[in-house]
Amino acid sequence: MMNLPDYIPNIHPLIIHFPIVLIPLGFVVHLICVFLKRMDEFRFPIGLLYLAATASSSAAFLSGRQAADTVSVLAQANLVLSEHADLALWTLSISVTVTLLYGLWLRSKDLSFLPWVVLALSLVNIGFLVVTADHGGQLVYRFGTGVSLPKEKPAIPQKNEQVSAITTNPDGSWKWESQLENSQNNFSEFYFIDGNSDDIQSDSKKNGLFSIIKPLSFVLKKTVADLQVEVKLDLSEFNGDVSILHHYQSMEHYDFLEISPGKITLGRVENGKRNEMDSKNLQVDGWITLKAIGSGRHFKGYLDEKLVVHGHAPAFDSGSVGLWVNGTGTLGLISIETIILKHN
Ligand code: HEM
Repeated sequence: MMNLPDYIPNIHPLIIHFPIVLIPLGFVVHLICVFLKRMDEFRFPIGLLYLAATASSSAAFLSGRQAADTVSVLAQANLVLSEHADLALWTLSISVTVTLLYGLWLRSKDLSFLPWVVLALSLVNIGFLVVTADHGGQLVYRFGTGVSLPKEKPAIPQKNEQVSAITTNPDGSWKWESQLENSQNNFSEFYFIDGNSDDIQSDSKKNGLFSIIKPLSFVLKKTVADLQVEVKLDLSEFNGDVSILHHYQSMEHYDFLEISPGKITLGRVENGKRNEMDSKNLQVDGWITLKAIGSGRHFKGYLDEKLVVHGHAPAFDSGSVGLWVNGTGTLGLISIETIILKHN
């Protein structure tokens, strides 16, 4: 197999030029032939152009999905990436429709209105292509996706003297950090759904270690829509599962990223029914960083900066963020950071 040069992160940037050229070319050649009344001569070459545009759009779409699963994406780029993928799906779907309609016209030339429908749809697709490519360009040139990465600025300003365990940004992003010196206040700002803050006792000597005597769940009562939640935790001495909850409305309605012994699961509970979008079997040991992203209808779960689970579902209404600690033992928990994703 051909090896890509080091500076090309994946095959997507090489493939996208084909639909970018072929989609407009099919439209222009078709339009010219209709006006010059040369359709009889060129009807098959035009069909081939539409077919090639569809084939290359499919390749761009599939390579884009593969690219999105492998490159690292800054938190704030996730919204643009979700929109890019949705727009790409429109571009591909219209391309398929155009090719099928043109094929129908080739077989039955009685349908004389079809070339106009094909031309109109093709023109609309050029619009979708332009916006798709614009979003792809933003990913690369605005957010550095797939290029040597600029360092992301910490979203939460650091305070020297911290009384509360939670710091909040003006945009609503927030970060909880475990505090040894102020341990009785560690969870006081959370709303406990199950259990209460007494069921989670801080270790008196080591910051970030908590003894859990019964399962509990808590959220911060701030509603968030598109978001990234990053949790640093250690489950070596804990028996049970831990889930990041987001878009939480009630225990009957929320999205989650769950880590259980040997498995990570991405899913949703809707009307009390649990649906798994994706899962992966893997073992973890020691401190890990678990990251959940929910942006539009795109959901992702990262373990230590590596994408491990990915799924799609209709966007939920905004909701709270929190944790479900479903087990007992000693839980390592250093921080929970929620970054709000929005367009600047
Ligand atoms: C018709 C389909 C698509 C077209 C025409 C398209 C177009 C583009 C363009 C023009 C760029 C900028 C490339 C550059 O300037 O170097 C780009 C980048 C990117 N696109 Fe797409 N795209 C498509 C589908 C997708 C899909 C479905 C996804 C993911 C779900 C995706 C993910 C990405 C990513 C992650 C980048 C950043 C560069 C990279 O890592 O390759 N694209 N795309």
